[in-house]
This record gives sequence, C-alpha cells and structure tokens, in this order.
Amino acid sequence: MSTRHRFILLLAVLLTSFWIAAPAAYAKETRTTVPVFVDTDIGVDDAVAIAYLLRSRDAQVLGFTTVSGNTSADNATRNLLTLLAAAQVQLPVTVGAPAPLQVPASRTGAFVHGPSGLWFSQGQYDVSGLPHDAPAAIATAARANPGMTLIALGPLTNIAQAALRFPQEMRGVKVVALAGSRGPGNSTPVAEFNAFYDPHALDIALESGLNVTLVTLDAFDEVTFDSQAFPQQLAAEGGALGQFLAAPLGAYMAAQTQGAGGMAAIPDVAAAVYALRPSLGTPQSALVDVSADQALTRGQTVIGLTMQQRVTMIASDEQMSALADQLFTVPGFDFSMALYQILMQRPDNAQVVLEVKGRAMARLAEQALTR
Ligand code: BDR
Ligand code: CA
Repeated sequence: MSTRHRFILLLAVLLTSFWIAAPAAYAKETRTTVPVFVDTDIGVDDAVAIAYLLRSRDAQVLGFTTVSGNTSADNATRNLLTLLAAAQVQLPVTVGAPAPLQVPASRTGAFVHGPSGLWFSQGQYDVSGLPHDAPAAIATAARANPGMTLIALGPLTNIAQAALRFPQEMRGVKVVALAGSRGPGNSTPVAEFNAFYDPHALDIALESGLNVTLVTLDAFDEVTFDSQAFPQQLAAEGGALGQFLAAPLGAYMAAQTQGAGGMAAIPDVAAAVYALRPSLGTPQSALVDVSADQALTRGQTVIGLTMQQRVTMIASDEQMSALADQLFTVPGFDFSMALYQILMQRPDNAQVVLEVKGRAMARLAEQALTR
C-alpha cells in the first residue's frame, strides 16, 4: 500500500471513529447528575449504599448527617469518616440525633452490624469537634441546592426535626427514605427496623407535608447479592474501597444468613439506587400510618392503597357503622359522596415503593463498586 493510500485509510478510520465516538461523548456530557444529601445511621448496608453513591456517575453527593440507629450517632459518624477516608473523599459531615424522639435508643443493630456498626472496621476518630446540628445542615444544603434529594438510610429523627424547624427549606426537598413495610417486618413480626427505631419521627415526616417516598422492606428485600461471592468480588476488583468494605460486609452477610450462605439483601442500596434511577422501582401514592404504640405493633406501617383501605384508615368503625345504617334506611342516600367526603379528610401523605427491579439494582451497585 502506497504512503498516500495509507494516509487516506488512516483519515477514514479517524473520521469514522469520530462520528461513532462523538454522539457517545456528547451523551456523556449532557448526562445530568442527581444532587443528593445523605442521612445515615451507618452500619454495613449504609456503607455499601454510600460507597455506591460515591462511585456512581449519576450522583453528586453534597454531604452527610448521621443519626443513631444501627449504632450510636458517634459510632455512625466514626464509621462514615472511616468510609470516606477509604474512598479518599472529603465531604461535609454533621453529627445528628443521639436518640429517637420519644423512645430509648435500641441497641439491637449490633446483632447484624457488630458492636460499633461496622463490625471491626471502624477507624479511630474524635468526632467532638464536628458540627452537631443535623437539621440545620440539611436545611442549609436544601437552600443551596433547590430540588435536592435527601436519602434517609436510617431512622427519621433528623428528618422530622428538620421538617419541624425548617418547613420552608424542606418543602422543596425530595426525601427518599428506606423505611416501613406493607408485609412482615424485620425488627419485629410487623415492623421494619428504621420505622421501629423511631416511629414518632416517621409519623412527623409523614404528617408534615414533606415530599416523601418510602422504599419499603417489600421492595428492598428484592435487592439481593451472593453473600459469599460479593464480598470476595469487592476485595478482588473493588480497589481500596472494595477491600475496605469486604470484611464488614462478609460478617454482615454471615449474620444475616446465619452462616448458611446464599443470597442476602443489602437494604440501603435499594434507596440509594432508587434515588438515582427511579425507573427501577414502582412508586404508588398511598396513605401511610405508623404505629407509635409501645406494645406489639410499635413501628408497624399501615399502607392504604385502595379506596376501601384508605376510607377505613380515616373513619372509625363507629362512623363506618353509621354509614352502613344510613345506606339501608335513608332513601336516596348518596353513599359515593359520603365516601368521597371521608377521603377528602386525609389526602395521601407519601409515595410508596413496594416493588423494585432487584436484580438490575444489584447489578448497578456491583458495577459501580467494581469498576
Ligand atoms: C434498615 O435497618 C438497618 O439495619 C439497615 O441499615 C437499614 O437501614 C433495614 O430495615
Ligand atoms: Ca441504615
């Protein structure tokens, strides 16, 4: 081939690759990232979810607040600083609520997250010098980033306080909270952990007019990983961050599966992925109530999706009985109007995500963490 022919061939290859590469490059540039602020009681699954957010190209992580839940707020803060160091990332961290609003702090998170929330991987940090006003930190971030998404990975104590103290700022925030269950619970037969831990906070979050989406246990239980292969994969292919996560995740998975192996959920990953990729979940408008009783039903979430469910959540049995009487005794009684009037007393207060594409979510997290 002559030099001239070689030159023409080279030019053709370059031009072709430009036309092929150009749309992809353009697509990359125009891809929008989601500004997210994270509130966390960082235990092991929170750590994996946060690592995913830090590594995802779709998120712009603005900062963090910590809260007691899986472990104390101070332990959670130390865990977060340890994780950020492993990820070589510096972001603002504010220490949050040391206990739920009205009930004593449960210490049962230790069963699956270990005594300090990250099994034995916590670094030594003095957190006393950090800011301690989490609701103010959330409000400041909301003011500076209109439309930001607040991902709540723990009990909703800080979020409730932010809603009460900063209603104006919180109005524009999209809250994606991992909390609640329509089916069985994981803390008790009926209550999911974050709802159980601080039911009064969840109640305030639901009743204060926040734009809140609950990713419930029904959904996050579908985001499963191989309890033995995934920690090993992180250690081998996840760089320094993956190597850091592998040991506590292995212990967490072993605790969850009681050593039996197999697939296990990493709950907080579901909320993190959903916040960036809502098309992987199915949100539904709902009326949600949480039981603040200190008895068997503490933290149980009652989720009304049908008209009949909503009506019976709003009206007492006495009121419903009166309707039944009227239906058969009052000529021309407008039953539909009576039901409509009941429904109007309490509009829906949340979006609930009861179903997600679990495999696709898990794959996204695996890809981001082993890239
Ligand atoms: C939730 O409880 C905690 O143990 C996890 O971190 C997650 O936020 C799941 O019910
Ligand atoms: Ca959590």
